Amino acid sequence: MRDVPPTVLSGPRAGPIGVFDSGLGGLTVAQSILRALPAEQLIYVGDQAHVPYGDRADAEILAFSEGISDWLLGQGAKALVIACNTASAAALKPLRVRLPQVPIVGMEPAVKPAVEHTRTGVVGVIATVATMQGAVFASIVERFAQGVEVLQQACPGLVRQIEAGELDTPRTEAMLRGWLEPMVARGIDALVLGCTHYPLVRPLIERIVGPEVRVIDPAPAIARRLAQVLEERGIAAQGGDGGITVHTTGDAVVLRTMLQRFGMGPWPTHALHWEAGRLSPR
Ligand code: DGL
Repeated sequence: MRDVPPTVLSGPRAGPIGVFDSGLGGLTVAQSILRALPAEQLIYVGDQAHVPYGDRADAEILAFSEGISDWLLGQGAKALVIACNTASAAALKPLRVRLPQVPIVGMEPAVKPAVEHTRTGVVGVIATVATMQGAVFASIVERFAQGVEVLQQACPGLVRQIEAGELDTPRTEAMLRGWLEPMVARGIDALVLGCTHYPLVRPLIERIVGPEVRVIDPAPAIARRLAQVLEERGIAAQGGDGGITVHTTGDAVVLRTMLQRFGMGPWPTHALHWEAGRLSPR
């Protein structure tokens, strides 16, 4: 771990909320936050220079998460949201130890609501390889499965398809059918989206699994959790118009095109670059 840089915290309610992901997926969480907390300013970082995180080792994901968190705090962020299941699994605990003064909200696969919903006794979870192999996921299944069968399916390559804008192409559909049809055949009636990129292909997923399977995206629950944390700490924005500024460690021009394709924005976009584990404006 590197040294923690000085944190610039202005008025307790004034700072933005720092939100980050390996790429564009976390914007699905940011959208939920903007809907739930319209007075908050969000500052978003998509680490597209390193996407996908899901095939990487925990130590590497943690180092990226530290670099991004430091930069966001340097921008005055009053709280952090790790809008990425993979980074949450690898970095939430160590980041909370490293930054004890900062409220940090992370993602975890919504196994509990799926178990509460099921009538067939079989639910499915799709996520990245890293999320599925992590100790956090194993402990969630152990805590919440309660005799329900939890089918676990990693989806290698899906984040890449989504980042490439292939939201409804024959190749993306074939990949998803290969993972989802066997789960449907085994009787799932709930499917957890365990990666924040996957809501971007939700229409395709719903078409494949059919109306009998409830698709669960934890983003609204995360937005509610964040609202609660901000209230508890007395740092929720009061009045005024919120919004979002989107930063990428990739190409800001490509980012703008993707946002348009995803039906998001128009939002201000900026490029950042990595240098020796730190982020700075390009
Ligand atoms: N959105 C990230 C997640 O929720 C994608 C991870 C990746 O980059 O592979 O896990």
